[in-house]
Amino acid sequence: MGLTRVPGLLYGGDYNPEQWPEQVWQQDVRLMAEAGVNIVTVAVFSWSRLEPAPGVYEFDWLDRILDLLHGHGIAVDLATATATPPPWLVRQHPEVQPVDANGTRLEFGSRQGYCPSSPVFRDSTVRLARAMAERYRDHPALVMWHVGNEYGDHTVECFCEESARHFRRWLGDRYGTLDKLNAAWGTSCWGQHYTDWTQLSPPRKAPGPVNPTQVLDWRRFCSDALLACFEAEREVLKEVTPDLPVTTNFMSILHHLDYWKWAAAEDFVSDDAYPDPADPASYLKAALSYDLMRSLKQQPWLLLESAPGAVSWREVNVPKEPGAMRLHGLQALAHGSDGVMFFQWRQARYGPEKFHSAMLPHGGTDTRQWRETLALGADLRRLAEVAGTGTRADVALVLDWDSWWGLEAPESLPSNRLRLHQLLLSWYAPLHARGLAVDLTPPGRDLSAYRVVIAPNLYLCTAGQAAGLAAFPGQLVVGPFSGVVDAADQVHDGGPPGPLRGQLGLRVEEFWPIPDGVDQQLVTGDGTVLTTRTWSEWLTVDDAEVLARYRGGPLDGRPAVTRRGRATYLGCLPEDLTPVLDEVLAAAGLTGTDLPPGVELCRRGDLLFLLNHGTAPATVQLPTTGTDLLTGRHLHGSVHLAPRDAVVLKP
Ligand code: GAL
Repeated sequence: MGLTRVPGLLYGGDYNPEQWPEQVWQQDVRLMAEAGVNIVTVAVFSWSRLEPAPGVYEFDWLDRILDLLHGHGIAVDLATATATPPPWLVRQHPEVQPVDANGTRLEFGSRQGYCPSSPVFRDSTVRLARAMAERYRDHPALVMWHVGNEYGDHTVECFCEESARHFRRWLGDRYGTLDKLNAAWGTSCWGQHYTDWTQLSPPRKAPGPVNPTQVLDWRRFCSDALLACFEAEREVLKEVTPDLPVTTNFMSILHHLDYWKWAAAEDFVSDDAYPDPADPASYLKAALSYDLMRSLKQQPWLLLESAPGAVSWREVNVPKEPGAMRLHGLQALAHGSDGVMFFQWRQARYGPEKFHSAMLPHGGTDTRQWRETLALGADLRRLAEVAGTGTRADVALVLDWDSWWGLEAPESLPSNRLRLHQLLLSWYAPLHARGLAVDLTPPGRDLSAYRVVIAPNLYLCTAGQAAGLAAFPGQLVVGPFSGVVDAADQVHDGGPPGPLRGQLGLRVEEFWPIPDGVDQQLVTGDGTVLTTRTWSEWLTVDDAEVLARYRGGPLDGRPAVTRRGRATYLGCLPEDLTPVLDEVLAAAGLTGTDLPPGVELCRRGDLLFLLNHGTAPATVQLPTTGTDLLTGRHLHGSVHLAPRDAVVLKP
């Protein structure tokens, strides 16, 4: 069973018919059918056109376009249109617009201008979602709901008085009493003891650093407040159309929203991914975020937006080279997506995104872009059997949003150079280079299916999380600056690694961040010399084997990497993790595949994807004979891949 009732893989994009005269719609649907488009996302930013005055709905145009699409065999991912509140709502209720940390209320004229805590905003979105659901519940084109758009993109937080009241209620639910809150926030520091709930506020701009536990709770609250907006709409959609799946488009690996929690509230995960064509490592970053999407619900997901070519919001917007649109689409499939969708179908003539690429560009159909749009559609039809298949991973990377928020809190850490995304990538890259499938996991999930679990960082680690890791029967790797604080961002008794101490058999006495420009060396047991450039720690080993020691510098001779039983600990960040990783993989009985640089190997179901992201041709040994579903060729022995070419091998 696919994500929706549309058979095979989904292919299409955001479609904004309200930006075009109706004659153009006829051409649109004809060309969509020609390209093999089987679904489009409609009405993402249409609130002001659907409800031009309070309670006055104008659905006629949407009726006509949905009918037209259906008549051409194209399904609809219908947005609830709540991503931009209309001008009348903002003018009648200026409090709907968000306020920044300095107290400035933001103006109308862009998008996502809403305060997540505003009851007026929420009630208005729910009314519109209900009206949409009741109008289209039986429309044959409608196959899924798309709530809001990219929550947390422009509006992550709002510092207005309504948000402050909401934050206080949220804190009341979390702590129950002010005494508990004062204890958790450590308000004895810097004279912040609260005696009344009304004294509490969001972490607005203050003279100096703001209480880090207050900031951590604010991050939790902001993720929850936006999630409540999503849930309010979802409720009404589920009531009126219980059989239609509901999703909202995620933004890959996003700091501000705890996607474990969010994914649990969706029927399936969908994602918007915009890897930068100018960044040679972007395919790696995309692979990591796609693996997160697959892991969130441990099921196929949907690439709901991506760019056919250039975007319009970077400093320099480099287009995708010929073949890259196809390659990037195939990459998403290889990592578990059940479709390839774009922003957007027809390139805009006006507005901030008029230079953003589209499946159908300004130049029309006699263009390279259009030919690539046609070709990808044909490829996806050849790959229909990919839909619904799963991936088995032996390795998991731990990702925890609480830890991430604590790790990247402003102004109170030993170093602000530890960035979680970078830490994840540093482990992911060598695993990916060996063609090993990787899941991501929250620390609390059942880990028994894996042979290796790597926690690049668990700055915030509770006793429960540590117990979960201790129970894991495979090889565990823990990165530096882990087990430092509890859920209230308070340092564990005895210091780090706190509740991980028994399992790791060591103590971290001091953090020793490395200043810019210094290369700290360490040497492994077999004499391999490694370099750590950002971080080191003064470790005292109680009961562990030392795998590597610092050489030179203030920590000369002290332990840098240790192992106790199946648990490896790194008090540093070696630029090259290969020697450490290889030992762990060997201990777990895992061998990867030798791949040429830039070549990606992924397994999905019984299919093998080989993708050449490099700039040079590559020859890859095939583990099995089979048929390339893209070309119909029978392959055995090895395969030659031109740059940006791919093979999908069916044994
Ligand atoms: C996304 C957004 C789309 C469009 C796209 C352009 O963030 O959801 O509406 O703006 O970016 O790349």
